[in-house]
Amino acid sequence: MLARNETFLPGAQAFEATGLTLDYRTSKGTLRAVENVSFSCAEGERLVLLGRSGCGKSSILKAVAGFLPVAGGEILVKGRRIDGAGPDRIVVFQEFDQLLPWKTVRENVAFPLRVAGRIGKAEARERAAEALRKVGLERAIDAYPHTLSGGMKQRAAIARALVTGADVLLMDEPFAALDALTRRRLQEDLLRLAENERFTLLFVTHSIEEAILIGTRLHLLSAHPGRTIATFDTAEFDLSNAGNARFDGVVKEVNQLLFAETNDEDADHV
Ligand SMILES: Nc1ncnc2c1ncn2[C@@H]1O[C@H](COP(=O)(O)OP(=O)(O)OP(=O)(O)O)[C@@H](O)[C@H]1O
Ligand SMILES: [Mg+2]
Repeated sequence: MLARNETFLPGAQAFEATGLTLDYRTSKGTLRAVENVSFSCAEGERLVLLGRSGCGKSSILKAVAGFLPVAGGEILVKGRRIDGAGPDRIVVFQEFDQLLPWKTVRENVAFPLRVAGRIGKAEARERAAEALRKVGLERAIDAYPHTLSGGMKQRAAIARALVTGADVLLMDEPFAALDALTRRRLQEDLLRLAENERFTLLFVTHSIEEAILIGTRLHLLSAHPGRTIATFDTAEFDLSNAGNARFDGVVKEVNQLLFAETNDEDADHV
């Protein structure tokens, strides 16, 4: 791994958005995706954006990644206003085809290190192997992506993110297309990795349970255009107490808030 831990300062601000407004230009004019959303996340914390389909979760994640310019407000990473993408942030997407099909799993994971050009081939291969061990993929190290299950592909994508040493991992519904059991295993592993590797996480989901489980803080967004409805402190919840009465109480409260502001026609997207 690169030297993530040396710069880790628990309690210091990892990233924050103030009055974030995001627009898309379309053939019909300007489409406002997100309006006046503010949040902050300290180092080592896990901020989850939750809201129904189309509320702007992915747009916010892309803006924090630096792929989408802001129309209003600002995004700071470690106190500095971002100007495009940077090596301090790395994205893991939902899609299973994030890996280059002509490269082995190890080569895929080593690839960002080679592109960055900072280390030699042998060291990149060794770091890739280490990251793959951390996500439990050592046995598939020489496999090609098309031979992997969806869960294994997501593990490889997480290893590729880890190996860069980026301080902030940005994950856009990385487990949404997995079966329930695989999803639970990956959630468990992600929480363990976040603890051991000390990264800060911005995680997007439309699963209420997953949001409460993964996040230390939950930011609830309204339907399109996304505005803040509420925030919840969910640091007390993990796999050991998922489903207990307090957990279920938060699930219920979030549900009520989401549906209270919903026009009924597509409420089932949440
Ligand atoms: N490239 C684009 N051009 C124009 N409009 C876009 C573009 N990407 C997203 N939008 C619009 O912006 C709004 C927010 O989209 P976004 O993908 O951020 O939502 P989301 O919360 O991630 O939804 P989902 O849960 O379905 O992934 C939607 O109305 C969407 O149609
Ligand atoms: Mg999305």
